[in-house]
Amino acid sequence: MDNLWLILSVFLQLHEGCSSQISVIQEPSAVVSEIEKNVTLNCLFTHTPDQMVTGPILYWYYGNDELLYPHPIPQYKNRVIVLNPDRNSSNRSILLLSVQWVDRRKYHCMLSYEKSGQGARTRGKGVTLLLYGPMTFNVSSESQNSLVCNITVSPHDGFHLAVLCGGLEVAQGQRHVYSKFTVLSAVVHEGVECECQLSLNSSMVLTRSYTRKSKDVSSEELPQPVMLYVAILLIPILITVIIAIAELIFEARNTRSRKRGRKQWSQQNSKTRVKE
Ligand SMILES: *[C@@H]1O[C@H](CO)[C@@H](O)[C@H](O)[C@H]1NC(C)=O
Ligand SMILES: *[C@@H]1O[C@H](CO)[C@@H](O)[C@H](O)[C@H]1NC(C)=O
Ligand SMILES: *[C@@H]1O[C@H](CO)[C@@H](O)[C@H](O)[C@H]1NC(C)=O
Ligand SMILES: *[C@@H]1O[C@H](CO)[C@@H](O)[C@H](O)[C@H]1NC(C)=O
Ligand SMILES: *[C@@H]1O[C@H](CO)[C@@H](O)[C@H](O)[C@H]1NC(C)=O
Ligand SMILES: *[C@@H]1O[C@H](CO)[C@@H](O)[C@H](O)[C@H]1NC(C)=O
Repeated sequence: MDNLWLILSVFLQLHEGCSSQISVIQEPSAVVSEIEKNVTLNCLFTHTPDQMVTGPILYWYYGNDELLYPHPIPQYKNRVIVLNPDRNSSNRSILLLSVQWVDRRKYHCMLSYEKSGQGARTRGKGVTLLLYGPMTFNVSSESQNSLVCNITVSPHDGFHLAVLCGGLEVAQGQRHVYSKFTVLSAVVHEGVECECQLSLNSSMVLTRSYTRKSKDVSSEELPQPVMLYVAILLIPILITVIIAIAELIFEARNTRSRKRGRKQWSQQNSKTRVKE
């Protein structure tokens, strides 16, 4: 989709070029990456031969004039690689190495050049770099019955975390906002096959699955002391129930051979039968 859009916009730009449009295109306008990864920031410089553009000089910067390329400020030293070394190439994309939380910002690509002997410059609309940390999706440390999904992301309202179990959304991420980043976390209390999804403006960024082993469910449901307590309570109840059932069967089939201790009860029982 992005590529199609890029081709389409380049196509349109080239046609507009007839009315002498020199442009710097930065598409996509937002890039999402895991921290510590290398990220490509695209920049396309378009013009036609009849526009007589010569001596293009590439600049990448943020803010007003904090340079990444050339002559980078310390934060970007040895971290920017121009992907196409040919200065005349239209492709002026860069690779930013090992991105960190502080790299979250909007970057501009700009070209300065000569056109018919006159100095000129053109800037792109910028690309916003957004970041996320590793996603954890596992049983909670507090309760084996809960699944917790959490992830740290750059501050941006478009990030959304959701947990789906058996294809249905069962939880949404809560937001914990800190100065340099936001933590999204969602808790699920049941479900065997679940998936945690991070999306940005409704497009999926990453997913992680968790499959609970059925063995875990049965053994973890009741902690052992509770099991023991229940078992101790259950044994006498079970015995009583078994005796009662046995007695009922015994009495129904063989009313004559009663035991002494239960005479009264049996007599009442046979009286009701006589009335019938
Ligand atoms: C990033 O790029 C550098 C230089 O090209 C390379 O050495 C490194 O392995 C890359 N790192 C990742 C995470 O791809
Ligand atoms: C620019 O060149 C780099 C390296 O050759 C490539 O990865 C990237 O896709 C190109 N970008 C565009 C917009 O063509
Ligand atoms: C770039 O283009 C100019 C003018 O079209 C030419 O003189 C120069 O040799 C080219 N440079 C490269 C590296 O191709
Ligand atoms: C998930 O939690 C279990 C139990 O707390 C632990 O043994 C396991 O290593 C965790 N898995 C991951 C991928 O962190
Ligand atoms: C995510 O959850 C794990 C396990 O519950 C916890 O150890 C970790 O600190 C959490 N991370 C964040 C960023 O909240
Ligand atoms: C997300 O959507 C909002 C509003 O629709 C828009 O302003 C913003 O630029 C978008 N962000 C990204 C990263 O696509």
